[in-house]
Amino acid sequence: MIGLALPKGRLVARAVELLQRSGCDCGALRNGSRRLAFTMDGIRVTLVKPSDVAVYVEHGAADIGIVGKDVLLEDEPDVFELMDLRFGACRMVVAAPAGYVDDPSTVLRVASKYPRTAAGHFARRNRAAEVIPLHGSIELAPLVGLSDVIVDIVETGTTLRENGLEVVEEIAPLSARLIANRARYHFAREAIERLTAPWRRGAASGRPKEVEA
Ligand code: PRP
Repeated sequence: MIGLALPKGRLVARAVELLQRSGCDCGALRNGSRRLAFTMDGIRVTLVKPSDVAVYVEHGAADIGIVGKDVLLEDEPDVFELMDLRFGACRMVVAAPAGYVDDPSTVLRVASKYPRTAAGHFARRNRAAEVIPLHGSIELAPLVGLSDVIVDIVETGTTLRENGLEVVEEIAPLSARLIANRARYHFAREAIERLTAPWRRGAASGRPKEVEA
């Protein structure tokens, strides 16, 4: 039995497509039920908050999981990153109100759901920054004077545009990744390969690697 942690929300539909490619009957996942764990075709699927997928996998509560690269960059979990699934593509960026000009003599105030990623980015740039952690609606922060800029993910760019912000700098391209618990990958490698081999179509992969910061 393979334990698979899936992120609730945007990526579930694409995960269902992958499971169907592997021959799984995904009826239970598509019927709109509020159940968070079920078994189908020898897979124990758990539906968890997207930012928690890697926690379940790292602690062995799931053998593998599908997670955004944004979460891997932020949390640096101790897991294998097996495959770039190439969906959920978006970018981690610095954005600011249109026309914003940086004043390097001040400490930059940065609002973000990704405080470590944001702090790391400005540290690498030797730019003094105070990171203000938020949980959502990040684009609001510069509009109400809470921050000068934001570090956030941009997919279509609609949220930035509708709030008068623009991309100042790109930090990293992002997409969904297949991750595995390190010990379980060694013990259950064959079963994991059997399930996920059909997922390689269109995916970028290589040897399992440590999650890269
Ligand atoms: C994410 C992200 C941006 C938005 C980007 O927020 O934080 O706000 O999506 O998407 P877009 O470029 O297609 O407009 P999410 O929808 O997860 O909501 P949140 O504000 O609650 O974090």
